[in-house]
Order: sequence, then C-alpha cells, then structure tokens
Amino acid sequence: MAIRKIRTIGDEILGHNTKPVKLITPRTALLIGDMLDTMYEANGVGLAAPQVGVLKQIVVIDVSEEGNSPLVLINPEIIERSGEQTGQEACLSVPGKSGIVTRANYVKVKAYNEHMKEIIVEGEELLARALQHEIDHLSGILYVSKVEGDLVDTSSIDENK
Ligand code: NI
Repeated sequence: MAIRKIRTIGDEILGHNTKPVKLITPRTALLIGDMLDTMYEANGVGLAAPQVGVLKQIVVIDVSEEGNSPLVLINPEIIERSGEQTGQEACLSVPGKSGIVTRANYVKVKAYNEHMKEIIVEGEELLARALQHEIDHLSGILYVSKVEGDLVDTSSIDENK
C-alpha cells in the first residue's frame, strides 16, 4: 500500500460529483488500502476518495484515539439525522485552517463495506460530524462552504484533520 497525494482546495476535482462503486476490483481494494494509509499518515480522522483524486463514492474514517478502528464506507448515504452540534472542523484538503460548522448531532448511514456487504453505521458527536463531512466530499462539498464566521489559521499549531 502507499501514501497518495492529497488534493487541496483550489483543485477542481474536489468540487466534482462522484460515481457509485459497483464492485470491488483489485484496483478498488488497493485504493481503499492507500486511503487508510494516507489518512493515518496525515493524522486525519477521515478521507474521501476525491481527496486523492478519485471520483468514486468511498470514504474512510477513524475517530478512535488509538487509530485502530477504521471504517470503510462505500456508496454511503445518510438515512436519518437528528439533533444539532456546533463545533470546530478541519480538513486535510484545507491545510492550516479550521472553522466552526453546525451539523446534525446524530446520523444513521447506510453503506457497503469493503466486501460490498450492506452495513448500517450510527454515529453521534465526532463520528456524526466525520460522517457528514466525508459524505459531503462525495458531492463536491467542502466544509469551508458551511463555516460560520471566518476560517481560523491553525498552521502554527498544526492540528489539521
Ligand atoms: Ni475533508
């Protein structure tokens, strides 16, 4: 597996729509492995395929402190949401910045795992935020379009995710 180059804001691929995955080819499996490696290497809690230049509906997330609980979501779709949370958000594609975004506090997501088995993932708080942020990437949406107030410069403390 390998680390892939993370596309950053201004790269037009980040604004594009993505296509659903129909089957897991060896190439798709390699992409998923590389996305996990790339996310962990960058100390991120989530990564979507467009961020490595691939317009497919694949996201990886790991909000655990140990970084040992990867979630792989293929063709994810939010089927329920409730509540509200307002908090800080950042993105590996927007280095050195963070901003305040209001999201649902709970979401239920239908997706497929890396074996194309249908799964349901429920998340609250940080996991819910990560799910909404990463699924937005699949529609070409960056969190910066949802920020309340200004983006904050965090480059000096380097806590991007
Ligand atoms: Ni992001």
